[in-house]
Amino acid sequence: MILSVPEFNYVRRLVLEQSAIVLEEDKGYLIESRLQPLARNVGCASLNLLVHRLQVEPFNGLHRRVVEAMTTNETSFFRDFHPFEGLKKFVLPRLIAQREAEKALTVWCAASSSGQEPYSLAILIRENFPQLLAWNLRILATDLSTEILARAREARYSQLEVNRGLPASLLVKYFQKRGCDWCLRDDIRGMVDFQIVNLADAWPALPPMDIVMIRNVLIYFGLDTKKEILVKVRRLLKPESYLFLGGAETTFSIDDSFERVQFERAVCYQVRKT
Ligand SMILES: C[S@@+](CC[C@H](N)C(=O)[O-])C[C@H]1O[C@@H](n2cnc3c(N)ncnc32)[C@H](O)[C@@H]1O
Repeated sequence: MILSVPEFNYVRRLVLEQSAIVLEEDKGYLIESRLQPLARNVGCASLNLLVHRLQVEPFNGLHRRVVEAMTTNETSFFRDFHPFEGLKKFVLPRLIAQREAEKALTVWCAASSSGQEPYSLAILIRENFPQLLAWNLRILATDLSTEILARAREARYSQLEVNRGLPASLLVKYFQKRGCDWCLRDDIRGMVDFQIVNLADAWPALPPMDIVMIRNVLIYFGLDTKKEILVKVRRLLKPESYLFLGGAETTFSIDDSFERVQFERAVCYQVRKT
């Protein structure tokens, strides 16, 4: 270990306080491998000097960069496939029938990372439910990290990133090759609004939601934070609306006011009717 125990614990506490991400005691290697490049970038000769700066300076952009560096941004287009099949075959057709009168639909991708998740949804809608483009359709995508949201807004992806989950037919239809990268068409980009929201902080005013996708982020939080987030999500969900979690996440034993709903191999959650 490069960091002393107090330095390591300082970083763990900072990350916990600012993001609710729990770094277990065995995550020393992760902290060091994520923060060493940052230390070099900001001109600190060692990781210990970086931590020293954090400890003596009042909270500033450097602390924020450390927290962002400790987030895991792993994502892909149409991640896990089945949730998107469930959206296409069951959830969206049902919601379209139910919301026909108001012609309004709001979706929130919380913790959207570099944008593949909300853009997958936007492409899915464009492909299968073009009538929604004439509705008051809002896809809100949020994340804690300013850096990852800047990437998401840019919607420029490497060959490796588009190879993960995006069918070739959709790649050529919705992306343009620029150098070695692929840029998403502006009309799809424009379907998604990106905004900073720290799930562990007070949330800004958010509209009532028809679909909330909060996938592969609760796993990083402790039980109390998961509970608080699910209570807040529940308050935002309209009647007959849907919550999607990551494959390793559940509401079970965390918030029993949700019930699990399965459409073929897609699992989602709805608020239990009392
Ligand atoms: C593993 S990615 C999941 C991306 C996408 N939802 C998916 O399933 O592919 C987790 C994301 O959660 C974000 N995150 C971590 N802590 C957060 C917090 N407290 N508030 C908001 N976003 C957070 C990270 O910045 C990261 O982009």
